[in-house]
Amino acid sequence: MSGYVWVDGRILRAHQPAIPTIDPAVLYGFGLFEVTRAYRGVPFRLHDHLDRMRRSAEALRVPAPPDDATLDKAVRTLCRRNHTPEAYVRLMVTAGGRHVALTRPLDPLPERWYRKGAAIALSPFRRDPAGPLTGHKTLNYLENVLTRRDALARGFADAVALGPLGVLLEGCVSNIFLVKKGELHTPSLGLGILPGVTRKLVLRIAGHLALPVRERAIQKRELADADEVFITNSLIEVLPVARVARREVGGGRPGPITRLLAMAYRSVVLTECAAASRPPRSPRPAACDSAAPSRSPSGPARTPPRGTTAPAGSGSSSRRTR
Ligand SMILES: Cc1ncc(COP(=O)(O)O)c(C=O)c1O
Repeated sequence: MSGYVWVDGRILRAHQPAIPTIDPAVLYGFGLFEVTRAYRGVPFRLHDHLDRMRRSAEALRVPAPPDDATLDKAVRTLCRRNHTPEAYVRLMVTAGGRHVALTRPLDPLPERWYRKGAAIALSPFRRDPAGPLTGHKTLNYLENVLTRRDALARGFADAVALGPLGVLLEGCVSNIFLVKKGELHTPSLGLGILPGVTRKLVLRIAGHLALPVRERAIQKRELADADEVFITNSLIEVLPVARVARREVGGGRPGPITRLLAMAYRSVVLTECAAASRPPRSPRPAACDSAAPSRSPSGPARTPPRGTTAPAGSGSSSRRTR
């Protein structure tokens, strides 16, 4: 990787050594990370990501990340210095107390997956929801990285893990949603999944759209008769799913509710990032959930701002394993 990184308040060349060999992050992968996306040089929902990181830091007794304003400034600086206005943004805190931020250009998923629906696999590995790392984004992410890499190599956007009783949990890097009879269903956090920042925003948008939401245990077999399926993450946004393992789901194409949520999500992104691209007055950028359109039977009630009519995430999401 070339360019610059931010380490403990200093901008360094990316290849410069910055983490001591004896840091537990190097020894054991002991530390935390967050991945968000920058739009036009502005990190999206940084506060939510740092909030999740702080809760994990407390639970795993890892040093907390710096404050929001410091990291917001660091990411904006990196986006400028690395010429990455549309960026993959990674924040890390090591158990040895190092704080790191880096940006890279996005590595988009194929645009056709957004238009026609992607395929996802089922992970061959069962998850242990009671494991100590469950629900945390630790630097020890190799199982997810290898499983996703294998899924991508086979043409799948992600691989969804099942829990011990065959319930759906989450992808290696995404949360999963089903639409059934006009209701949105997603595995509940209590099952031992990552509290996705995108998941949270999609649920909030669904509330604005008066879409009934059920967070619950979902059996794998329910995928077969779902009207729509989609996955979410901060880089890929809302990705429609047309096939699970090679079987068609949801009629084999993106459904209307998925499209509506994807557009509404994009609309929130644009509103918040436009507001936050002015110099921040407070550490937390203005949250513009009100930008979510209200629901209408034929589609979004409010036309998204110009330039947003392409499928959400098209040409701008990431294929990287995290
Ligand atoms: C296991 C797992 N679940 C869900 C997600 C989605 O989280 P977010 O929406 O915060 O990107 C991720 C993101 O990498 C993840 O690693």
